Amino acid sequence: MKVLMVGGGAREHCIASKLVEDGAELYTVMNNKNPGLAKLSTEFLLASDTDVPKITGWALEKGIQMAVIGPEAPLEKGIVDELTEAGIPSIGPTKSGARLETSKSFTRDLLEKYNIPGNPKFKVFKDSEGIREYLEGLGEFVIKDEGLCGGKGVKLSGEHLASVEEGYEYAVSCIHKSGAVVVEEKFVGEEFSLQCLTDGETVIGSPLAQDHKRLLEGDKGPNTGGMGSYSDSNHLLPFLKQEDYDVALDITKHVCQALKQECGIPYKGVMYGGFIATKNGVKLVEYNARYGDPEIMNILPLLETSLLDMFKAIIDGNLSESMAKFSNKATVCKYVVPVGYGVKSEAGYPLEVNEEAIEAAGAKIYYAAVDLRDDGLYTGTSRSLGIIGIGDTLSEAEQKAEKGLEHVKGHIFMRHDIGTPEAIERKIERLKGIRG
Ligand code: GLY
Repeated sequence: MKVLMVGGGAREHCIASKLVEDGAELYTVMNNKNPGLAKLSTEFLLASDTDVPKITGWALEKGIQMAVIGPEAPLEKGIVDELTEAGIPSIGPTKSGARLETSKSFTRDLLEKYNIPGNPKFKVFKDSEGIREYLEGLGEFVIKDEGLCGGKGVKLSGEHLASVEEGYEYAVSCIHKSGAVVVEEKFVGEEFSLQCLTDGETVIGSPLAQDHKRLLEGDKGPNTGGMGSYSDSNHLLPFLKQEDYDVALDITKHVCQALKQECGIPYKGVMYGGFIATKNGVKLVEYNARYGDPEIMNILPLLETSLLDMFKAIIDGNLSESMAKFSNKATVCKYVVPVGYGVKSEAGYPLEVNEEAIEAAGAKIYYAAVDLRDDGLYTGTSRSLGIIGIGDTLSEAEQKAEKGLEHVKGHIFMRHDIGTPEAIERKIERLKGIRG
């Protein structure tokens, strides 16, 4: 089957690796020459992943039978609508369905309208009237830009915003930029990611993972796209119970049905819920309409069944829970990033990667924003590559990831604390304290 992968990051490298293993013939559209994707692809096109007319034209020329959309930006542009019109089915929602991620107010309103639990107290503002009073009433608050901001549109009181006045100013700037802002109650707890696949009816969950958004060890410093993530062998996280998983999956199933009613067609693709375990139970932080980056790198290496078959079933509308089997292993992913990433990346430096040694150390590598030139590999401004350790326990997986990292050299930075026993213990104790 000729499969088009749209996107050139580590998430796409990871998805593509599994699809090729499952028998797909891969065609890729990517911004930069990702060496992992280039190697897997029968052909690739270097182009913007949001250039929908160009991508559709190329897909038709190559006789593509299925498109897989990695990032959110092309979904927002309506790539699935255009490919569908051209007769190419896709894994990913239409522009209307992608509002699940591209419009923060859409998702909050959807949960409220369909009486689905998990929402905070919230209010959507389209002008500045009443914002100050609402912030004062909440005490601790979260302000979310209505539109896509590459993970940088959410600001929290006490972390990024020191006062009601700073909150007010940020909220008004969001309205100027995106036309609306969502102001919410702040949840306190531990976040986790549940990445699901759906054909619009059946929703299949996967092992939970936890991302690390902050740049520095101990969860300090500026927010980033994610510095690394881990998953545990029982498919939960060390600080969660089975009932937390069940609540998150149940919310996602209800949201899937609500999306069908609201959009008039089944939602097909990924529903990646960012949840938070609080003292009042599991709450919804946000949904994304694509896989998590880095979290997908914790999940697909454990999938023992065919992802390609699941994708085909999504298109045909006959997805079933028995199609997904994950091995009972723990994983730890650590991202290698250029020095200065998160503040001002020092990009364009040579990167030395010994793939054989990484594999010999029992780790996997997925390339992200690196550029393969005639004279070697160079860093870009964004994250460079993910190293994933897989083991029977979290500590074994963490040690394998660290061994793998020893074989990447350059002007780079990484967080060594992700998945360590000390960091995990801190999270367990923190949530115990919150939940009583
Ligand atoms: N892990 C963050 C994201 O994929 O948006």
